[in-house]
Amino acid sequence: MQLNRHVFTTSTAALLLATLILPFKSASAQTIPSLKDAFRKDFGIGTCLNNAQIDERDPKTTEFIARQFNMATPENIMKSALLHPKWDTYNFEMADKLVAFGKKHNIKINGHTLVWHSQLPPFIRGIKSPDSIRTFFTDHIKTVAGRYEGKVFSWDVVNEALNEDGSLRKSVFLQHLGDDYITEAFRLAQQAAPKTELYYNDYNNEQPKKRAGCIDIIKKIKAAGVRIDGVGIQGHWHVGKVPFADIEESILQYAALGVKVMFTELDIEVLPRNFQGADVGQRMTANEQSNPYVNGLPDAVQQQLAADYENLFKLFLKHKDKVTRVTFWGVNDGDSWLNGWPIRGRTNYPLLFDRNNQPKPAFEKVIALKK
Ligand code: G3I
Repeated sequence: MQLNRHVFTTSTAALLLATLILPFKSASAQTIPSLKDAFRKDFGIGTCLNNAQIDERDPKTTEFIARQFNMATPENIMKSALLHPKWDTYNFEMADKLVAFGKKHNIKINGHTLVWHSQLPPFIRGIKSPDSIRTFFTDHIKTVAGRYEGKVFSWDVVNEALNEDGSLRKSVFLQHLGDDYITEAFRLAQQAAPKTELYYNDYNNEQPKKRAGCIDIIKKIKAAGVRIDGVGIQGHWHVGKVPFADIEESILQYAALGVKVMFTELDIEVLPRNFQGADVGQRMTANEQSNPYVNGLPDAVQQQLAADYENLFKLFLKHKDKVTRVTFWGVNDGDSWLNGWPIRGRTNYPLLFDRNNQPKPAFEKVIALKK
């Protein structure tokens, strides 16, 4: 009897304690402040979305996304390999679902991407004639941009066309269509989607040489009388090494050309890497040191990550008249492509929410800027 009473009182006390502590340890989606609401008057807050999220496979995730974000970019499903798998076949199923998702949850969609050298349909490799490449290029832009006119808010018309030194990447499009292909892509997109915003998007284009190449692209498009509304700086950076001065200089220089500035794929890598950027073709070999935080992020790194995000958002707020959107490349750490690149199977922590959609110290710092 005495033993029973002991068990009862101990478990009741434990239950009471848990009731008191749990709401703080694991906040429900509704009690976590909303990023999109906090920054509503400043700029849009976006995320990329993967198949499971677009499919609404988990209602809690859907609710979380709708509460935190007002803009979204498809992580993969609007890339040409998926949208245009065969010469005369398009597959719009997932892209249509994405548009419906945006409408239902009041989230503006940024189409990603019409022209990119990567994730091209396999049949492209078999094409040797420039005329056929031009036909593919023209039909793809007209068909896709035309179908989603009035349904997406914007397009990354051309993605990652630059080398690090600011010269044009020798993509299949440059080789077969020549230097003017970027302007031509914007011209075609403008014709097919006259009311949709049109952007150029790249990584490392806050770095001086690549930025100069990016500025040339923007000037060339404008000189041809073609519309370009904005430039996307992807923002795949590394903890403790975020190039704040280059980012600020880029915001100023791009905005001076009369285009909107966006941070379109923001994440901050915390794992060892010997290069910056996001060239998916670049890989690293795993070794004993390459996956150090499987059991959790050390506090010092967590605090540095929080400070980096805080300083980034301070900068974005300082230039909120020029910055129109900040999009994270993933909803939470578990979703991030950085768990699989440039080494597969690592445990990375690059975003504001942990694997259970709980706010990290970086989130608290960012939100505190608006309190
Ligand atoms: O869908 C297939 C699946 O059928 C197959 O079993 C599996 C085996 O690897 O691959 C799956 O495709 C993967 C796809 O993501 C969907 O998960 C590809 O291998 C993988 O390469 C692909 O990675 C994407 C990467 O772009 C490819 O270019 C990442 O998710 C995506 O985050 C990343 O996003 C890019 C932006 O579009 C442009 N800027 C850089 C950014 C990061 O690389």
